[in-house]
Parts: sequence; structure tokens; C-alpha cells
Amino acid sequence: MQYQSHRFCVAPMMDWTDRHCRTFHRLLTRNALLYTEMLTAPAIIHGDRERLLACDAREHPVALQLGGSDPMALAAAADIGASFGYDEINLNVGCPSDRVQEGRFGACLMAEPGLVAACVSAMRARVEIPVTVKCRIGIDDQDAEDDLQKFIETVAAAGCITFIVHARKAWLAGLSPKQNREVPPLDYARVYRLKASRPDLTIVLNGGIAGLDDAEQHLAYVDGVMLGRAAYQTPYLLANVDQRLFGSNESVVSRAEALELLTTYASRHLESGGRLNNIVRHVLGLYHGQPRARTLRRHLSENAVKDGAGIEVLVDALRIAEPSHRSFSAAAE
Ligand SMILES: Cc1cc2nc3c(=O)[nH]c(=O)nc-3n(C[C@H](O)[C@H](O)[C@H](O)COP(=O)(O)O)c2cc1C
Repeated sequence: MQYQSHRFCVAPMMDWTDRHCRTFHRLLTRNALLYTEMLTAPAIIHGDRERLLACDAREHPVALQLGGSDPMALAAAADIGASFGYDEINLNVGCPSDRVQEGRFGACLMAEPGLVAACVSAMRARVEIPVTVKCRIGIDDQDAEDDLQKFIETVAAAGCITFIVHARKAWLAGLSPKQNREVPPLDYARVYRLKASRPDLTIVLNGGIAGLDDAEQHLAYVDGVMLGRAAYQTPYLLANVDQRLFGSNESVVSRAEALELLTTYASRHLESGGRLNNIVRHVLGLYHGQPRARTLRRHLSENAVKDGAGIEVLVDALRIAEPSHRSFSAAAE
């Protein structure tokens, strides 16, 4: 799949958007741009690259998100990421955790636009793929509209043309990362104005977008939307992305079809020595809002964690969720 656009993106989420999660999401949408969890530049440079960066050919288009603030280290990490086939390098300028602040990266970099510009320049000099930035609308008391504008202008001058903006500021002292995703109010209008002031830039809106109706409304003002928690917790919304946002005429994949395809993938993962729960933990919300969702969720979360849990956990899941669905029972008989 070619790198297409930022019209619909699934957010980078630590512990959540690993390669199994991305493979599952890709079964539901061909066009969404998927993001990895954040990986720090030193982890990529010194760590087990194969384990950290391996990505399945079917995941594309997929962007690698980096954390760091040392331009040379980020350039080296971006280069390694590009060699693993990622379609984009994204720099995290939005994470407010203490650990990240100690490393002087994440959201605290909103206060250092010159350094972010240097990071972008260094990465762009090393890789051919696009280098993008994910940021907040502000941090702490540095949250005037001018501050955001100055940040964007400075980083854009270094050649970054795509910004994903989480439409709430971050409080670096006193709020946990989770609170920083909930407490500061959302200000979508500020992101719309940013796009209006710089129509040449690709501006992607993130934060609190609950589904595709919301997404379509925002797309009247910005180039793209990025969904985090909603995409993870209610993943079946992804099944309509290609038809509603990319004009696809293909039929919408059903939950049962997605579960069957996932079972094939999980079989291979088990054969190569992986654990079933590595995959199943990302799937718990697939039937959210459907009649047997709670029974199914309990079945999956209780059984997939057991030692030696095998593919029958997924086969049974389909029987529980859709008793009249045929093909598994046919295959099993
Ligand atoms: C569990 C979790 C982990 C996250 N990890 C990252 C991360 O690694 N990098 C990042 O830029 N944002 C991270 N975020 C923030 C999301 O990318 C996103 O900006 C935020 O959740 C707001 O979007 P939403 O309201 O659609 O969830 C994380 C969010 C969650 C819930």
C-alpha cells in the first residue's frame, strides 16, 4: 500500500499500538495511516532493533514515532527506522510524562521550537520519507495562540509540512499523562485557525474524536483526523473508514470476517512461539455495543491469558459472538 494521506490516522499509543494491534487494525481499514508506539532514539540505536522495529509488510502505511531531542541521535534512529520500511518518521512533542520530561523531550519541547527545528532538519537530511511532528496546542503558561503559531512557523521553516495537533494543552507539573488527556479543555477552533493561517501545511487534528461522524465534521476545517482511544476501544469504527472517508466501493468487512482473518494471523504467531494474548488483548472491543459483547470480552480476557492458550480461544469467540456464522464450524468439522 502506498503512503496516501493523513486524512484518517490511528494515534501512537504506548503499550497499545504494537505490531499486533496494527495488524488487527489493518484488517479493518486499508487506508488509515497507522502509528507505532513511541520509541526513543537511544532505544533504537542501542536496543534490539529487530524486536523493536520489525513490522509486517501488510501493516503499511505505517509511521514510526520517535522520542528524543538530540538531533544527531534522532537522525540516526530515523535512518534505522527508514531501513525497516516505515513510511514516515514522526517526532513526539506531546507526551507529558515525568520520565519523558527528564529526558527533555515530549511535550516540554513545545518550549524549544528552535531545538525541534534542528531535530527535524537533522532527520530530513538523513531520510527520504516524510518527517512529521505531533504536538499540543501549548504547555503550562505558554499557551497563547501566538506561542503555537511561533512553534509551527519555526518548525515548518525547517521543512516539516505535516503537524498533528492534540487540541489541548499539557500541564507538565501536577497532572499525570492520563489527566493530561482529559483535564485541559479541548480547543478545536484553535487548530482550525492554524490551518486557515497556513493552508500550505497539512494539519491533522487529534483529541477527543469519538467516531466517524465527528471526524467528518472536523475534516471540513483540517486535512486529517487522528483517533486514539476511540479507535482502540471501539475498533470496529475503523471498518467504515475506507468507504466513508476515502471513497472506497469495496464492501465493509464484517466483525466475523475480521475475526477469521485474525485467527489465521494468530495461528502463525502461535506457531512461531508467540503468546495468544499478545494479539487478543487488542481485540476485546471488537463487538462493543453488540448483543453478546460482554460474554465475548470475558471469554477472551479470561482464556487468552492462560498458559498454552491456543487458537480454539478465537474459534470459540466467534461461536459466542455469532452463533449462526458458518465458516469456522465448517472448517473445524
Ligand atoms: C495508552 C495511551 C498511550 C499513549 N502513548 C502515546 C505515545 O506513545 N505517543 C504519543 O504521541 N501519544 C501517545 N498517547 C496520546 C495519543 O496519541 C493521543 O494524542 C491522545 O490519546 C488523544 O487522542 P484521543 O482523544 O483520540 O485518544 C497515548 C495515549 C494513550 C491513551
